[in-house]
Amino acid sequence: MKLWIALFFVTLAVGASAQSCTCKTMKWAVCEPSPCRCTVMVDEDVKQPLTCDKMIPKCFLMKAEMYRAKLNLSTRTLGGKPAETAIVDNDGIYDPDCEQDGTFKAKQCNNTEECWCVNSAGVRRTDKGDKNQMCDKLVETFWVRLELKHKETAKPVDEKKLKVAMADAIHKRYDNFNKDLVQDVTYDPEAQLIFVDVKKSKGERKSDLTRMAYYMEKDVKALPLFQDQAKFEPMVDGQKLEIANILVYYVDEEAPTFTMKGLTGGVIAVIVVVVLAVVAGLLVVFFARRRQQQMYAKAEPREMEAM
Ligand SMILES: *[C@@H]1O[C@H](CO)[C@@H](O)[C@H](O)[C@H]1NC(C)=O
Repeated sequence: MKLWIALFFVTLAVGASAQSCTCKTMKWAVCEPSPCRCTVMVDEDVKQPLTCDKMIPKCFLMKAEMYRAKLNLSTRTLGGKPAETAIVDNDGIYDPDCEQDGTFKAKQCNNTEECWCVNSAGVRRTDKGDKNQMCDKLVETFWVRLELKHKETAKPVDEKKLKVAMADAIHKRYDNFNKDLVQDVTYDPEAQLIFVDVKKSKGERKSDLTRMAYYMEKDVKALPLFQDQAKFEPMVDGQKLEIANILVYYVDEEAPTFTMKGLTGGVIAVIVVVVLAVVAGLLVVFFARRRQQQMYAKAEPREMEAM
């Protein structure tokens, strides 16, 4: 009888531990119990082992996503600058090369002959080149600006409470993310836009802003990457904020090196307008000078006559 009871409890315990062997931070992971090991498919016959008590590095996530997209399992959609050098991810998804620890390799080629350099968020920061493209190191993104558009709310959003509320929501949802890094929160009530500046000091390598930003991007644009599919809805003054869209700007420790070729139409238009204005200004100065010179020329003979 005692044996049976003992067996019963052992079975229960095994059952419970088997159940708890899931990957909280990655819903596509497959786990095997005793000992609990989770992996995610990143290519045909390639299983990436995961550490599920933390958020998964973005590079692994993108690889998994690219592989799923290839199998038609899931796709991802694309959604004011915090600094002159801020960049957004216009390229969308590619199949990245990751280091052992899940950081991006500085040079990425997307399995093609065309290569480029990325920052620690895996976002392209140079023009695309050929296979001989040089990327001497991975440049760290030390500042991300999250531009969050929220849906209509019943009562106005209290701007003063927004900063603490956003820092709390991010801390709770994304692996106890360090609240101190949520440095600035500004609000545009008319546009229903919240700007969240998440910034670490240059040279700091402990906190990973890009992982948090990527999980949030997925929370808003697609579905949560977490096992738990609860939505990301920050509470501000007792009111839940539903987020409709997100845009992420990345500021790197070193400015990106796009050339004219890589400039977007908007930037080129601005440059053209500025150049035209300068030329117009120079012309005005030139003609004004000429008129003045002509007046002197006219005035001089009269002085001569007087003499
Ligand atoms: C990477 O390659 C895939 C197809 O293999 C393509 O759909 C995607 O646009 C490429 N991404 C970039 C950034 O070049």
